[in-house]
Amino acid sequence: MNVLILGSGRVGTAFGYILRKKGYRILGVYNRHRETGLRALERIGEGTVYDRESLPAAVPVADLIIITTPDRVIKETAGLAGSGGPHSDAYLMHMSGLLDSEILKIPGWEGGVFSFHPLQAIAGFTEGIKLLPEALFTIEGNEKGERFAGELARSLGLKYLVIKKEYKPLYHAAAVIASNYLVTLVGNSFRLLRKAGMDREEVRKGLLRLVKGTLENLEQMAPDEALTGPIARGDLETIGKHRQALTDYAPELGELYRLLGWYTAEMINNEEIKQYFES
Ligand SMILES: NC(=O)c1ccc[n+]([C@@H]2O[C@H](COP(=O)([O-])OP(=O)(O)OC[C@H]3O[C@@H](n4cnc5c(N)ncnc54)[C@H](OP(=O)(O)O)[C@@H]3O)[C@@H](O)[C@H]2O)c1
Repeated sequence: MNVLILGSGRVGTAFGYILRKKGYRILGVYNRHRETGLRALERIGEGTVYDRESLPAAVPVADLIIITTPDRVIKETAGLAGSGGPHSDAYLMHMSGLLDSEILKIPGWEGGVFSFHPLQAIAGFTEGIKLLPEALFTIEGNEKGERFAGELARSLGLKYLVIKKEYKPLYHAAAVIASNYLVTLVGNSFRLLRKAGMDREEVRKGLLRLVKGTLENLEQMAPDEALTGPIARGDLETIGKHRQALTDYAPELGELYRLLGWYTAEMINNEEIKQYFES
């Protein structure tokens, strides 16, 4: 199967590498900058760097066109693929968590379209080739596209589930809360350590071990059972001291502590602490 990758950054390059390893033929990549393409091909191991002029000639030869540009340009990139005239059995996919496959519909073309989202944070190529094979993929598409997406996932040995189009933004918000906001929380925790004069490598590593331990607990039990600390113990005195310390040393984080405290108390149905956090 001949594959074209439009937008070979972190996800596109790593996914291209995985595809090639499984026997798919990578025709080449297209980006705004030639250097981006050359770097990607070095890693993927085969293919041609296309530009705006040469891309249309490659499109009719492709059986699978993967759009891994930033989300904001997926639509125009699909338009570009469409102007090359994909063959009628070709498939067009993107890997956005937010957007659904409607954005890929090319006027006058009845081929398969689908979204194929890895529930993983891919920070670079090395991380990508390690994390993508273990990720859960969520897929949806038109009838042809969704059927092929399942075949693609199975051929690559990937875990997947089908999602309804209308739930993609909600699903993506869930991923952002769990992944991106975790980063925000750890970043702000480091900020407090700095204010406490404890901004040292070993303290940051110690905190990350705490986070990893919490994640391991979450693998074993439900969030309300995994919760430890003063809210789980109903210890308002400790919570009050935290809030006082924040007022004294980091007032900018008082609202973050209050709001997350409220949601934590709500999760374990502790009305008293929930009410305390309402003020
Ligand atoms: N990274 C993640 O953690 C992650 C996880 C799940 C899903 N995704 C999804 O995967 C997709 C790609 O994300 P990414 O993180 O891999 O992005 P990325 O690393 O920023 O790569 C985007 C690539 O698109 C190219 N590009 C940008 N604008 C373009 C345009 N107008 N035309 C053609 N190429 C263009 C860029 O190269 P040039 O600058 O040379 O054009 C770059 O190679 C997105 O849909 C994203 O939502 C990402």
